[in-house]
Amino acid sequence: MKKFQFFSRFALGTAFLSATFLNAYAADATIRELAKERGRFIGTILNSEWFNDDIEPQFEEIHKTQFNVVVAENEMKFDATEPKENEFNFEKGDKMVKYAQANGLRVRGHALAWHSQVAGWVNNYSGQKEKLLAVLKNHITKVVGHWKGQIAEWDVVNEAVNDDYNADWRSTNSVWYEGIGAEFLDSAFVWAHEADPDAELCYNDYSLEWGLREGSKASFVVEQVKRWKKNNIPITCVGTQTHIEIAHETTPQNVRALAKALAELGVTLNITELDIGFPKGSAGQLGAADYAKQGHLYRQFMDVFLEEPNMGEFVIWGLTDAHSWLDEQQGKTEGLLYDKQYKPKPAYDSVMASLKAHPASEVKTPYPDSILNPPKTNPKDTTAKDTTAKDTTIRDTTVKDTTDAIKMFNAPSSVSLQLVGRTLFVTGVTATNSAKIDVFDMQGRPIFSTKCKNGSADLSTIAEGLYVVRVNNGSTGLIKRIAIK
Ligand code: G3I
Repeated sequence: MKKFQFFSRFALGTAFLSATFLNAYAADATIRELAKERGRFIGTILNSEWFNDDIEPQFEEIHKTQFNVVVAENEMKFDATEPKENEFNFEKGDKMVKYAQANGLRVRGHALAWHSQVAGWVNNYSGQKEKLLAVLKNHITKVVGHWKGQIAEWDVVNEAVNDDYNADWRSTNSVWYEGIGAEFLDSAFVWAHEADPDAELCYNDYSLEWGLREGSKASFVVEQVKRWKKNNIPITCVGTQTHIEIAHETTPQNVRALAKALAELGVTLNITELDIGFPKGSAGQLGAADYAKQGHLYRQFMDVFLEEPNMGEFVIWGLTDAHSWLDEQQGKTEGLLYDKQYKPKPAYDSVMASLKAHPASEVKTPYPDSILNPPKTNPKDTTAKDTTAKDTTIRDTTVKDTTDAIKMFNAPSSVSLQLVGRTLFVTGVTATNSAKIDVFDMQGRPIFSTKCKNGSADLSTIAEGLYVVRVNNGSTGLIKRIAIK
């Protein structure tokens, strides 16, 4: 069991946590907190650099503080998970799932059946329908089965519709379509459901934000969802990637129209890969008005997202402009919420403004409480095995053990803290039922807040690291630095 160690440093408390810090940070909510209050998931990818431990430390700090859903940019795709026939590599995906579980993040799996980033060996079976069906079934069964109960939602099929004015299936450069035909989609959903009956299953695509006119990609997808639902194919969601440009001002309302069309079919619509890029040539020439316009478009997407009851996830395809596929491949730039120095842009402020303009009481969620507040049953967590009898903390007395036990803080407060395992016990005249508990990282950013319930608080979702915990019982506060080993 992880042990918290409390270091009671009065001098540290006052010097470090000056009024400025507490005012500057404690009041600011995070996107994550506001999303959770509204029964929604807002997040972004873990870029491939994160998996390779080749990214700035701010990345993860911001990611786990600000967001509550995560997806791998590349590391759960076919070529990454089954690089050789029937030889699976789950190492990087496991790293993300462990990170997500340690930080209370929902996990999207991306992507099982896609014409792109398929392992090279699959093409050896090009045109061989029975073999390709067996290969795809084995891939989906093994990958979904490996993360059964740990991945909330899968992009089962990605980008299977072509880009013609009169949309139809993508019939070229797709080993799956060319070898099997359109039935590969139906089978993929059935196999994914068999491997994890509790996972939500999405059809994911780009250019679904161009309206539901006859022949559009979006209307073609809606027709397929109608057919799948009629045939009991276990699809539960559609993902609109929504890779757009600053000029695409009609797209938020088109997404709203798509959400409404899918709501009639009982299917969730998720924004799965949003970025709002500027033309690459404009890099270095953008001014406040440009970034404000980008923020306005982000605001409109977040407004639609919060107002449509069957929308569940709002995922942005990158955290910082410093690491974005837009610059690497797409001829666009600066499409995200944080700039290249990890500073929040007007787009971040717009997302926050939209969240605050839509009170939790007015936002409907498509998710049951079992998804919003899942029981903590991480099988790898040894906490369940630890019994108080074995945990000496509870027997340590302040006199005997000066480092682990919590000494009464010298502040004039009736509040005192005792931590057992990962539960913080708060005692004091008025603290028992009303104390607010805030946990900050060492940069002073809020990472967790909760209220005391019957004199205790559960800190089990906080990852390893150095933090400061503050208990505020209305009249006075108690501040402690903590270290999770
Ligand atoms: O890992 C290799 C590395 O070993 C090698 O040195 C390097 C040299 O090019 O390539 C690396 O692989 C790259 C991979 O990203 C990991 O960085 C591939 O070349 C590159 O093509 C791949 O690009 C990804 C792209 O999907 C591939 O289609 C982007 O990172 C990723 O953001 C992008 O994401 C897609 C979604 O999955 C589906 N929707 C569209 C979205 C944007 O294209």
